[in-house]
Amino acid sequence: MKILGIETSCDETGVAVVTDDRQVLSHVLLSQIKTHQATGGVVPEIAARAHLDHLDDLIAQSLKEAGITFEDLDGVAATCGPGLIGGVMVGMMAGKAVALAHNKPFIAVNHLEAHALTPRLVEDIPFPYLVLLVSGGHTQILVAENIGHYHLWASTRDDAVGECFDKSAKMMGLPYPGGPHLEKLAAGCKNIKAAKEKYPFSIPMKGSKEIEFSFSGLKTAMRQTLDKTDETPENLADIAASFQSILAKTLSYRAIQAMKKFKETYPHKSDPSLIVCGGVSANTTIRETLDKTASEHGFTLKAAPMKYATDNGAMIAWAGVELLKAGRTAPLSTKARPRWPLEELRTATGETK
Ligand code: KG4
Ligand code: ZN
Repeated sequence: MKILGIETSCDETGVAVVTDDRQVLSHVLLSQIKTHQATGGVVPEIAARAHLDHLDDLIAQSLKEAGITFEDLDGVAATCGPGLIGGVMVGMMAGKAVALAHNKPFIAVNHLEAHALTPRLVEDIPFPYLVLLVSGGHTQILVAENIGHYHLWASTRDDAVGECFDKSAKMMGLPYPGGPHLEKLAAGCKNIKAAKEKYPFSIPMKGSKEIEFSFSGLKTAMRQTLDKTDETPENLADIAASFQSILAKTLSYRAIQAMKKFKETYPHKSDPSLIVCGGVSANTTIRETLDKTASEHGFTLKAAPMKYATDNGAMIAWAGVELLKAGRTAPLSTKARPRWPLEELRTATGETK
């Protein structure tokens, strides 16, 4: 089975062809980072136009690299939400057009589900598993029961963790997107223990027994720290390292609560997995911290390969493989959705909650 996947929900135009036996036949990605650096963030209208300008060429290039034609495809998958609606519509309409013209099934992919399924592109991870979804727009803990079947256990009261990285990095004078730049800056810290003592940050809402996130307070703490600091390169590296460390600790702290709840909810599940996915999962400190925490609690941390952690076409194509195998194709009347919570996938197909 060969599936074409199209991703256009934010600022990456991604197209890939993936097979059901886990081969990525092609994976082309055009980043709009340079386009959006001038404004310090994504301008939705500009992003949508940039997807439109390049998508046809990228689809042609993806098929060429895979050594196939449209006729060899078994289905066409496109992100139909959630995301910036203009961009989502561009990719979705392109996918529908290819599906209609070549008489192939159309697969409407939920971008969040694609992140949550991407680690399965590398190896079989049996359901149910725990998902920590950390991206620019979302910070959630979910249980993946099956394809199209998720329970939301935690989300954020305000900003997503990727947003917290990006906005804090911007305050530090780093370019868009801030997450990877902040990580690079933090790598210049010479003594992490001293940096944490000099620039302390704390886990938000630590006393709360609820599994929930909030990142706006940390953003304010960053502002206050910068305001009273001489912003030399050394000091900024120390602040970045201490800040990154508290974000990693915060995610770990809430993951521990979720792992305990998972064990209570699924007492017979052997060898449970914790999956970390979404763009922020490209952060090495966060991966390492979660890896240690997971193994201390009897879980194995699984993550997508680095190149598929941030938005890309292969994750959409792989989700397309999984959805098609589960019989979840979509009509051409499917609408693009700016908001599309994973829990709604069940009801969308007529299943009961
Ligand atoms: O999943 P993604 O590519 O797009 C969304 O669906 O939102 O995630 C993008 C987010 C951005 O906030 C970006 O700064 C963050 O992921 N990110 C990182 C790193 N690479 C990307 N954050 C921290 N460290 C990184 N290495
Ligand atoms: Zn994403």
